[in-house]
Amino acid sequence: MKVRYSYLQQQFANPEPIFEGIRELLKTGAFTLGPQVDEFEKSFARLIGTKYAIGVGSGTDALKLPLKALGVGHGDEVITASNTFIATVGAINEVGATTRFVDATPNYVMNADLIEKAITKKTKALVPVHFTGEPVEMEQVLYVSKKHGIPIVEDACQSILCKYKGQTCGTFGAAGGFSLHPLKNLNVWADGGVIVTNDAEMDRKLRLLRNHGMKNRDEIEVLGYNSRLDTLQAIVGNWLIPQTREITNKRQANAAYYDAAFRKMDGLVRLPPARANCERVYHLYIFEVDEKHRNTLLKFLCDSGIEAKVHYPIPLYQQEGLRHLGYKPGDFPETDRHSKHIITLPVDQHLSREQQDYCIARVQEYFT
Ligand SMILES: Cc1ncc(COP(=O)(O)O)c(C=O)c1O
Repeated sequence: MKVRYSYLQQQFANPEPIFEGIRELLKTGAFTLGPQVDEFEKSFARLIGTKYAIGVGSGTDALKLPLKALGVGHGDEVITASNTFIATVGAINEVGATTRFVDATPNYVMNADLIEKAITKKTKALVPVHFTGEPVEMEQVLYVSKKHGIPIVEDACQSILCKYKGQTCGTFGAAGGFSLHPLKNLNVWADGGVIVTNDAEMDRKLRLLRNHGMKNRDEIEVLGYNSRLDTLQAIVGNWLIPQTREITNKRQANAAYYDAAFRKMDGLVRLPPARANCERVYHLYIFEVDEKHRNTLLKFLCDSGIEAKVHYPIPLYQQEGLRHLGYKPGDFPETDRHSKHIITLPVDQHLSREQQDYCIARVQEYFT
């Protein structure tokens, strides 16, 4: 049996409603910032429960633009998670600031208790990452943010509809950034991103920044970027957005199904600790095995036709391209531990029970 990681062929197997939208677009030629972008932004803001949503060119830009709007730049430091996708660091780097990492919890998210120790006089923003679709302990992040007067930009790129104590991720800070990349839970046909905020001035600045800083056709208020969500991608987003809850429910049900099976393999397979008051949305489904088994099990699964992965085998702080940050091996022990023990299985909404049973059976087979 083949258990593929990418489900895009299934997801877009019936593209006629999207093609119809594109045909309509061709009649107007409103390829940039067309009315479909407004419609998508309104729907997205409603979905997340914020006053504003701003469509941008990517999830990376959905972090970069709020940082820029907050005035973060050269000589500043931004604190984020040591186990995140490189794009979080890329966004911080693009505004000219330096990334300062804090280690993870056993749930693979930024350990909010470690933030305060990482703060220096140069710290200008906190970027908690709701990695895998699991929320960071936002109560603690908010406490630190308030105490030190440092704003929060949430990296919610993997966590659409994720909740912490009943509140939706992306709504805790000055702004929250989401990715619409094809492999995200809510995905379009190319790069895309969305920023949410409840602050009218932040909304105004972000709309300027995404469109070259142009107040209107003739006046430039600030230096900005070309980072607009394409109208074509907004058409795809408008088709998909009503399905977001259903997609999330399916991913959660799939994760619960894996959990039930793997809990019976206690000692051989370990799951991240359960947390009260959190709603995980399972962008990634991760389990752990002993270090001595990880690579051999991974290979066994791949050889069996299962596209299992590791997010991530080399921690960012140990990557060659980030050497200038000055970290040394062992600085982030929990992130190191994850890199050696974890395996990611497909958990998407198009995965069948037969495919899940096959994944579970292969893990069981490996250990017999
Ligand atoms: C945690 C995290 N942050 C930021 C991004 C950046 O998103 P994009 O690829 O849309 O630029 C991604 C996804 O790729 C991500 O997983």
